[in-house]
Amino acid sequence: MGWAEPSSPDIGEKKSSANPPTTKTGAFREPCGADAKTYETMKADRMESRTKKSSGLEATLSRTLDKRRSSSTIRQLTTTAPNAVDFSSNDFLSLATNPELHHSFLQELERGPPNTGSGGSRLLDGNSTYAETLERQIAAFHNAPAGLLCNSGFDANVGLFSCLPQPGDIIIHDSAIHASVHDGMRLSRAAQCLPFAHNEIASLRAVLQTCVASDPTILHGQRNIFIAVETVYSMDGDLAPLHVIVALLRDKTLLPASNAYLIVDEAHSTGLYGAQGRGLVCELGFENDVTVRLHTFGKALAANGAVLLCSPVVREYLVNYARPLIYTTFMSFPALAGVKASYAFLASGRAEALRRNLMGVLVPGLHARLLGLQEELAVGGGATGELLRVPVECPRSPIFAVLSPEPKVLAAYCQSKGFVVRGIVPPTVDVGTERIRICLHGGNTVEQLDGLIAVIAAWVHMRRAQMLESRAEVSRARL
Ligand SMILES: Cc1ncc(COP(=O)(O)O)c(C=O)c1O
Repeated sequence: MGWAEPSSPDIGEKKSSANPPTTKTGAFREPCGADAKTYETMKADRMESRTKKSSGLEATLSRTLDKRRSSSTIRQLTTTAPNAVDFSSNDFLSLATNPELHHSFLQELERGPPNTGSGGSRLLDGNSTYAETLERQIAAFHNAPAGLLCNSGFDANVGLFSCLPQPGDIIIHDSAIHASVHDGMRLSRAAQCLPFAHNEIASLRAVLQTCVASDPTILHGQRNIFIAVETVYSMDGDLAPLHVIVALLRDKTLLPASNAYLIVDEAHSTGLYGAQGRGLVCELGFENDVTVRLHTFGKALAANGAVLLCSPVVREYLVNYARPLIYTTFMSFPALAGVKASYAFLASGRAEALRRNLMGVLVPGLHARLLGLQEELAVGGGATGELLRVPVECPRSPIFAVLSPEPKVLAAYCQSKGFVVRGIVPPTVDVGTERIRICLHGGNTVEQLDGLIAVIAAWVHMRRAQMLESRAEVSRARL
């Protein structure tokens, strides 16, 4: 079904001598006589100059895109075949297609106010009692004093990192931190934004020591340090060593002024860890050691948006200074209703069986199968190591990075056989760590794991045969 044409699109085309006359509906009215010649010339001139301008720009853009194409790093929008097995999305608990949650969502929509759009920025007309109540309920669920709903996790991180660190403060971040934190840091007034090696505590300690030693305002607590980590890293599926990080920040010999503030992004742990999916910070009991937590609703919660959990003062500061919150239309009522239904689903314990299947059956099940595959391929001899490297240790999350120098080709092969996995290439990951990312879900089955492993094995055999053949050809050519 198409969209209906507006009956009277009287959208004031500004009339000037340079503009051709228009009819009431905005369509061109063809002029006649001498007028027509001038009009045709003007129209042709305008078209030509427009084409010249756009072709120059488009040529530049095309050259840049071609570079990506030739290095197989071009990004493309794709859709997934309806019957394909999902080993890719962040719908960790398979709630996006859960009929029970769908039903609860519809009921929530029926119960709530008869609004669709929120009507504006949260600071103007976009706020509602519904949003405020939901925000308090979510904060209480995660055992936090206050929460601030945001349109997305991306907005939340940009808003937070761009305004919370004060002039002269320092941000230290894990080198694998999400792009949204990088964008926030770019806008921030922090004096320095320093990376530490991914998940390496010795590196974090060294950066902290340098900051304290080289800046007396940090040493004496006039300026602060913010440390940004994620609980689960989306490309490697590994967890931040929160125990050790918290212990480090409590260490008075390292930080005499106790002025390092931990910010934890729980985007990939929401719904998966802690009682009823409250997150890893709650599981470890570190609520009071973390200054701000981010939970996003677009992954395990099958909705959209995010919440920043913090103190009431930090919340009030963000309401006043976080520009992505101030200058944007707030979440619509249906979006909030979706979030509410998902949280109610988690809190009622209805996601527990899915969580158990995911973390207790599928994660160890895939790891065992990948190790088995590696062994089997190695026994067969040949270039397995060149084509596939599986994680040595079982991940503690549903995300598996299977390294391959041909991730896009392997992913396309799996997709052609009905299994959706994604090839991940630089700049998203480091050169030399190209991979397919396999993401498991509460609704996947052991049979689907077997199917995926069989497809990967078939691809390796096929590529190995191709490689051997092309080597043989080279040898023949040399003779
Ligand atoms: C670690 C992390 N933080 C933040 C975000 C952004 O969240 P959202 O998708 O809600 O914008 C993502 C999304 O991929 C993420 O992986």
